[in-house]
Amino acid sequence: MYICICHGVTDTQIEAAIENGSTTLQQLNKELKVGSQCGKCCQCTKRVLNKKLNQI
Ligand code: FES
Repeated sequence: MYICICHGVTDTQIEAAIENGSTTLQQLNKELKVGSQCGKCCQCTKRVLNKKLNQI
């Protein structure tokens, strides 16, 4: 599912980045550019991040 429309980033890509060591929204922003344009995906990205961090 697409999380960030501006940069075409999916939840799978976000989860993979978290598995590779990203633990903050800032790091995800640096790696995938999520949230760096309109910012509307920030809440959703945070949800994916928190869910994934709780699993690992
Ligand atoms: Fe992610 Fe716009 S949807 S920056």
